[in-house]
Amino acid sequence: MLLHTIAEVREQVKEWKKQGLTVGLVPTMGALHNGHKSLIEKSVAKCDKTVVSVFVNPIQFCPGEDLDKYPRTLDEDTKLCDTIGADIVFAPSPAEMYPDAQMLSNDFLTYVIPPFFYVNKLCGKSRVGHFDGVCTVVNKLFNIVQPDFAFFGEKDRQQLIILKKMVKDLNIPVDIIPCPIVREESGLALSSRNKYLSANGKKEALVLSKILNNIKICYNKGIKDINALKETAYSMLNENHSLEYLEFRDKNNLEEKETADSDTIVFIALRVEDVRLIDNIEL
Ligand code: PAJ
Repeated sequence: MLLHTIAEVREQVKEWKKQGLTVGLVPTMGALHNGHKSLIEKSVAKCDKTVVSVFVNPIQFCPGEDLDKYPRTLDEDTKLCDTIGADIVFAPSPAEMYPDAQMLSNDFLTYVIPPFFYVNKLCGKSRVGHFDGVCTVVNKLFNIVQPDFAFFGEKDRQQLIILKKMVKDLNIPVDIIPCPIVREESGLALSSRNKYLSANGKKEALVLSKILNNIKICYNKGIKDINALKETAYSMLNENHSLEYLEFRDKNNLEEKETADSDTIVFIALRVEDVRLIDNIEL
C-alpha cells in the first residue's frame, strides 16, 4: 500500500497496534537495490507489519551535493516492496515532512543534533550538517510510525552508530537492528550512487573493498600496527582514486584506535569519477 501522508500512516499503524501487532520500519531514500531489499526482508521476517519509507531528505544534503539528481524510482521501489511483502510504502512529499518549506535551516526548524564527538570525523568532516539532517528525519519517522524495530545497514556505519546513540540518549522506544553490508559479486558495496559510475568507474571503485579485505588479511596474519596496515592500502591507489579518509576507529564510540584489535572498524571514503563512495570492515 503506497501512502503519501502522515495522517494515513498514523491511522493504519494505530489499527495494527490495537491488534497487538509488531511494526518494523525501514527508512530509505529510494532507488532501492539489493542492500535495501535485505533490510526489508529482515523486517518482514521479524515483524508482523513492515513500513518502508522512501524520502529523499533535503535537509541531509549539503550545498553542492546531489539532491536534485539523486535517483527517484518510486514505481519500481513500490513494486519491489510489494514483492518482498512490505505492508506500507510511505513516500511523503518534502512539503508533507517539512510544511514550513521555506524555512529548512535550523533558524526556523527544530533539529536533532547528534554529539559533536560523533560527527566531527569521517563523513561528518566533509558533510557538515549531514548527520543533523539524518537524525532529524529519522526521529520524525520514528514519531510518525512508532516502530518496535528499525533496520539500518552497516554500509553507513557512522550513521548507524550515531542513530543508536540518538535512541539511547533520547530514550526512544525502538530497537535498532543492524544489517550486514550487501555487495556485488565483485565486492563493490551496493549503493544508489553507484548509478553515477561508468563501467570503468565501477571497476576502479573495487579498490575500496580490495583495500579493506587486504587490511583484514594482513591483520589476521598478525599485523596490528595501523601505519603498517595503512601502507598496504596506499600502494593500491592510482590516479583515478581520490582518497578522502582511511581510518581505524572503535566500533562503539568512533574513538581513534592506537592499535588494531577486534573492536576496530576500518572506514574508507574515496572519490572515483567525482562520485563519493564509502565502505567499511570490522576487524
Ligand atoms: P539510503 O542511502 O537509501 O539507505 C537506506 C538504508 O539502506 C540505510 O540503513 C543504509 O545503510 C542501507 N543500505 C544501503 N546500501 C546498503 C548495502 N549495500 N548493504 C546493506 N545496507 C545498505 O541511509 C539513508 O538512505 C538515509 O540517510 C536515511 C537513513 C533513510 C535517512 O534519510
